[in-house]
Amino acid sequence: MEMKTTFILFFAIFILASCHQKQATQLNKHDEKIDSLIAVMTIYEKVGQLNVINFGGNLINPQGEEIDIDAAIQEGLIGGLQNIRGVDLLTKLQKLAVEKSRLGIPLMFPADIIHGTEVIFPIPLAFASSWDLKGIEEISKISAKEATALGINLTYSPMADIARDPRWGRVMEGAGEDTYLTSAITSAVVKGYQGNDLSDPSTFGACVKHFAAYGAVEAGRDYNIVDMSWRRLRDVYLPSYKAAFDAGCASTMVSFNDINGVPSSSNTYLLRDILRNEWGFEGFVIGDYTSVGELVNHGVAKDLKHAGELAINAGLDIDMASMAILKHVPELIEEGKVMMETLDAAVKNVLRVKYALGIMDNPYLYLDKKREKEEVFKPEYLQAARSMAQKSMVLLKNKNQLLPLNKNIKKLALIGPFVDDNNTPMGGWAFGGSHYESIVSLLDGIKNKVSDNTKIIYAKGCDANNEEADQIPQAVQAAKSANIVVVALGEPLDMIGEARSRTSLNIPGKQMELLKALHKTGKPIVVLLFSGRPLLLDWIDENIPSIVQVWHLGHESGNAIADVVFGDYNPSGKLTMSFPHSVGQIPIYYNSFRTGRPYQENYRWSTHYMDSPNTPLYAFGYGLSYTKFEYSNIELSDSVLNKKGKIKAIIKVKNTGEYDGTEIVQLYIQDLVGSITRPVKELKGFELVELKKGEEKEVRFTIDIEDLKFYNNELDFIAEPGGFKVFIGTSSDNVKEAKFALD
Ligand code: BGC
Repeated sequence: MEMKTTFILFFAIFILASCHQKQATQLNKHDEKIDSLIAVMTIYEKVGQLNVINFGGNLINPQGEEIDIDAAIQEGLIGGLQNIRGVDLLTKLQKLAVEKSRLGIPLMFPADIIHGTEVIFPIPLAFASSWDLKGIEEISKISAKEATALGINLTYSPMADIARDPRWGRVMEGAGEDTYLTSAITSAVVKGYQGNDLSDPSTFGACVKHFAAYGAVEAGRDYNIVDMSWRRLRDVYLPSYKAAFDAGCASTMVSFNDINGVPSSSNTYLLRDILRNEWGFEGFVIGDYTSVGELVNHGVAKDLKHAGELAINAGLDIDMASMAILKHVPELIEEGKVMMETLDAAVKNVLRVKYALGIMDNPYLYLDKKREKEEVFKPEYLQAARSMAQKSMVLLKNKNQLLPLNKNIKKLALIGPFVDDNNTPMGGWAFGGSHYESIVSLLDGIKNKVSDNTKIIYAKGCDANNEEADQIPQAVQAAKSANIVVVALGEPLDMIGEARSRTSLNIPGKQMELLKALHKTGKPIVVLLFSGRPLLLDWIDENIPSIVQVWHLGHESGNAIADVVFGDYNPSGKLTMSFPHSVGQIPIYYNSFRTGRPYQENYRWSTHYMDSPNTPLYAFGYGLSYTKFEYSNIELSDSVLNKKGKIKAIIKVKNTGEYDGTEIVQLYIQDLVGSITRPVKELKGFELVELKKGEEKEVRFTIDIEDLKFYNNELDFIAEPGGFKVFIGTSSDNVKEAKFALD
């Protein structure tokens, strides 16, 4: 080997080794101290570390006596208390652990910080539509700053569950249907939460959930079963969790579902073989709320004791709220059904995270009255919330450029159940904050925006979800008297989120009746859709000129919507879930496998419906702008990709419209001939490109062999030589294409 090559090789190995080292050391650098501590712990103190519960109520200790939380903390029977906040309360509890328990091991205080703590950001499905990784990292950092100022040191987030079924209510908590994009977003969120140093008191630990494949629950019914090929699991569902671990994620939460018959809480293949042995994960695994106890309901455990045995032996460390491990592992050890080494390993995983968070050295690190006072609800956090809300909206239709509206409109009618509403924009999982009253409703946002010459006429029209139609005539009158009508429709909070699966994705109640009555007035109408999932929009798309998907946008909702409606922000968001024409099309996703009978006119093409197109109404990656972007043809730096090489795919994008704007340029790849069927296309890159009016930019993507790999049926992760198509464009269904070959 030549001198120069040898040097480069050593240098590369050194870089790789030090990167790996850096990731690992956050969690394992205190291992010796942890081993010494475990050596002096009683069996009860050990199971105590594996017990995380809600604050409040009594619990049973391993001796079967009822005790309260204070007593349990002093006996060392609690490892963490979840979903509480406030420095005074948490300091009092921490003192009990540190000063009154025998070993003084501090408590962990985890919470569900999903899209903000005090300042509420857009729901995750909304902020995913920004595709803006930097912005997402930034809001995650702010979530961490605020939460840690309130004493919280770990969050049960991000949710990396790939979701192809909008009937599932939890689609709002994730980044949508695509593996590549969800992985990138998950990684950005973890980096934002954890920063470079977990023991920095303004960062907290992340807990990626729900491991694994929770988004694939059959028929979109929450908590249902998952039955799928191992190949699909690895190819589509696992990479987004893996992305979190690669970003250093400190912990993971298992899913409620089973996979091919084995619930995640007792799934050795998932928790030991894949997570620990293949991926080398060193943080802790926590059950979901009572998921360990639920092994009895699944019918794989005969009672709570058996559930505890299965879970800990499978590699689950912390039992959230079912107390199976706390109550039963001591006797299971005596009976030889759980080995002491297994218990010790679980405790070690938990203590690693406690050390990494810095609380073993300073239990009061996150309990700082000054920070609690000064570091929450800052104006710059609200500014970040507004900016992310602007980027999260997706312009679905804009016939004849009805939008943006003029700020001097004479009479503007604002109609619908979500106009004068500062509750819905908060979105699910935003509990606990103390600033809800300052969430900006659409009505206030628009009032803040329009000129003094504009008269706003507000009419509710109907409630979000009941059968009363008596307010509709009044709303029609309001519309008739206005120049433009803006209608805010959608889904109320209690229809979306955990345990809120739906079989109908219609806009509920009398809202469509209201819209149809308004449409009859012949006035120009803009529809704003408040929802946490794709809804069925065919009628709206056929009849209404302008539609904006506004999701649930958090604190600055009304201001950000007004920014878009009146053109102070040119919408740039793109859908991360396909919007179907009907529930019958579900699951529908852009990267489906090729079939033997693709579309052919007048032929029995495969996956053909008699009563519906095969394609969705709005495809993955779709979203309009007030301006227009024109794409050149793709240029490839080479038509052949060498296994160790790279090729560049280059395209020019020009802003040919009347506004400055940001375009999300998307790159997809298709493997033309595979040893197994391959998807029609898969996202493998994207760039956010800001273009001034008239400006053109060259966008360059690099493709290498990693972008071409997939799991075959032997579960080997491989790239196969042969032909590939590369597509670049503005959405998954509007692209230019070129071809290359892998050598
Ligand atoms: C949810 C989790 C959540 C946990 C704790 C469960 O019901 O599935 O996502 O983190 O509760 O609040």
